[in-house]
Amino acid sequence: MSRAVAHPSLALVKYWGKVSGGVNLPATGSVAVSLEALATETEVSVAASDRLEINGDDATTDAARRFFDAVRTFCGREEIGFHARSSNSFPTGAGLASSASGYAALALASVAAADRPVHNRPALSALARAGSGSASRSVFGGFVLWRAGAEAAQQIHDEQWWPDLRIVAVPMTTAAKPVGSREAMQRARGTSPYYNTWVNDAPRLVEEAQRALTARDIERLGRAMQQSYLAMFATMFTSRPPVIYWLPSSVEALHRLDALRRDGIAAWETMDAGPQIKVVTLASSADAVVDALGDLAAVPPIVSRVGGPARLV
Ligand code: PMV
Repeated sequence: MSRAVAHPSLALVKYWGKVSGGVNLPATGSVAVSLEALATETEVSVAASDRLEINGDDATTDAARRFFDAVRTFCGREEIGFHARSSNSFPTGAGLASSASGYAALALASVAAADRPVHNRPALSALARAGSGSASRSVFGGFVLWRAGAEAAQQIHDEQWWPDLRIVAVPMTTAAKPVGSREAMQRARGTSPYYNTWVNDAPRLVEEAQRALTARDIERLGRAMQQSYLAMFATMFTSRPPVIYWLPSSVEALHRLDALRRDGIAAWETMDAGPQIKVVTLASSADAVVDALGDLAAVPPIVSRVGGPARLV
């Protein structure tokens, strides 16, 4: 039996949309940070058939079976099945990137359970991508780049790079999202008149975020983050039918954060396929962010440091 832990990968600049002719190959590059305070732990043993449990519930979907097929091919062991038990320290499928940490931990623990080497991180990243695009990033810790069209993500700075950085995750609901990211991305690509503009503008933001990280410049990073998530949502709002993940509490949080910034506090939000708000800030301002948004949250906000890579435990 093998056991792995992985952290969610929060995109500062977003992956949204796939290119055709591959499995989860991104149309846009993304830049992400790993969240230490949130984790998925997954235990895998080799078995006669496939089974995936998430937080105690059967989750052996077609997607899970296809992922196990990919693991078998990767390992050159077509004869085995996998029993996997996964648990998240945070709400599942609610826009807190549980699929990123989930498939990264599942990839690592499955390959180890099949008795195959796990040190080739780019190969593991490409395998995790078959489960969920963002999982390719969760294989690495620290700050991660996943280029447009790339099979695997890559680390750009490790988790020690920016010791003062904090991410405050503010869950506005613990309910699962009404539309999955796979479906919502496809809809945006197929129906939003803004989709091509989004894709064409993305490289600029990927560059800008990398420069901001290298300079540890939170204002510069924050502005690139804001442009990225709002442009991504523009493709959702203009999809047919539209995808609207935001709740009134999400919008209220955006206004409160704007007020905090006007008071000189560096606190820059991003959002994903869900109503949750994630705020990038500095250690000295994390309490101010929690105080400003705490009453809007469905469960207490979580303050995280930058996390490390997926690992066997
Ligand atoms: O890879 P998925 O299906 O979890 O999609 C991720 C999409 C976003 O979270 C909205 C953006 C991102 O880059 O993580």
